[in-house]
Amino acid sequence: MKAAVCEAYGKPETVIVKQVPKPAIRPGEILIKVMASTVNSGDVRMRGLKVNGWMKLVMRLILGFSKPRKSILGVTFSGVVERVGAKVSRFKPGDKLFGLTGFRFGAHAEYLCLSERATMIEMPANAGFEAAAALPFGAHTAIHFLQAAGIEKLNRPRVAIYGATGSVGIAALQVAAHYGAIITAVCSSRAAPSLSTFTIDNIVLYDKTEFTRSGQQYDIIFDAVGKLSKKECRSLLAPHGKFVTVGGMAVARENKEQLDLVRQLFEAGNYQAVIDKAFSLDEIVAAHEYVDTGRKIGNVVLKIGQEEVSSL
Ligand SMILES: NC(=O)c1ccc[n+]([C@@H]2O[C@H](COP(=O)([O-])OP(=O)(O)OC[C@H]3O[C@@H](n4cnc5c(N)ncnc54)[C@H](OP(=O)(O)O)[C@@H]3O)[C@@H](O)[C@H]2O)c1
Repeated sequence: MKAAVCEAYGKPETVIVKQVPKPAIRPGEILIKVMASTVNSGDVRMRGLKVNGWMKLVMRLILGFSKPRKSILGVTFSGVVERVGAKVSRFKPGDKLFGLTGFRFGAHAEYLCLSERATMIEMPANAGFEAAAALPFGAHTAIHFLQAAGIEKLNRPRVAIYGATGSVGIAALQVAAHYGAIITAVCSSRAAPSLSTFTIDNIVLYDKTEFTRSGQQYDIIFDAVGKLSKKECRSLLAPHGKFVTVGGMAVARENKEQLDLVRQLFEAGNYQAVIDKAFSLDEIVAAHEYVDTGRKIGNVVLKIGQEEVSSL
């Protein structure tokens, strides 16, 4: 099968498309024909070992010293079950699934082998493969951090999303809207037009107004790009207000309930899969280069499989 293989830490060109063996399934696993994936901030961070100071050593120890041990990157996917192992009961061939591979990575390939217990569920009935692949990364991160801030327990919380136009930020706007929040989106003037179709009460343009001096009060401030500190935001937090950030040591844990929620919202027309650009697997280097800019709006999709057309 064809896969994008990361042969060393470094520039986008270290990712090479080549033939690798198709994975073999064990009794509790399923083989998925991958139709689409995304190239996200996590993929380019891993490829480029983009962390500061001593964290580089920690990352090398965890992920592989001179190159990623899991050399096929990609953590999100949509696809079709091709075969199931003898002990699999949750899925059958032909099921259309979307999900997250987590630390197994491996989604930037034509086939993916996962335990039937992996974080994946049936795709939203109204989603195409590209839209479905664009849902999990931002949504699971946004749901994790907003729930960690206690959004479910608050009535009409005032929520500020800092960095509202990235994959995580745009998801956070929609998850916060689901919880009935009064939403302030903080983004650049360049990216602001991309938010015109979302329910937002207030927009702060960070290149025109300094958000941390805006004098407003929030129940939750979610820094979805990891650029702020709690100290900078202290004056904006209401009593018992919570500051959460993607930039600290906390890591968003994924689960099926997060996928269920985003599927329900998407099927009800209350969630958009925002796709900035789509690339083919052969264009993987260009996809990494674009995500490296740190300026994408929502998601960058990787188109991998072709749907089989039956001739009757
Ligand atoms: N801790 C975790 O578990 C976890 C999980 C997922 C992601 N993350 C981290 O979360 C961060 C965001 O991920 P992502 O996938 O959403 O990234 P992304 O899609 O690449 O973010 C790009 C967006 O961020 C905006 N942006 C860049 N600099 C900004 C700034 N100073 N202020 C406000 N907005 C800014 C950009 O628009 P403008 O440049 O026009 O503003 C662009 O729309 C990454 O650092 C990622 O590593 C952490």
